[in-house]
Amino acid sequence: MKSNFVNNPLDKLPDILKRNLDKNLCICNEVPKMDVINTIANGAMTVAEVQKQTYATGGNGCCRRQVVRLIECIHSIELDK
Ligand code: FES
Repeated sequence: MKSNFVNNPLDKLPDILKRNLDKNLCICNEVPKMDVINTIANGAMTVAEVQKQTYATGGNGCCRRQVVRLIECIHSIELDK
């Protein structure tokens, strides 16, 4: 099975997505941005997987777009929006 693990995920992100790494990306559920990035780098390829593992996007969904962008950049893929 192909591993979706990504080394050095920060190297894949544009500068604008590297800001506020220690702040909560998902305010509703208090999920730090770095937790989301590490979850994606450890193999999460969809918003649903990120939500299951971190609870990010599980509030009113306002951070969904940012999670989509992080997945796309870290895994070099395009997601259906
Ligand atoms: S900030 Fe993530 S669901 Fe609201």
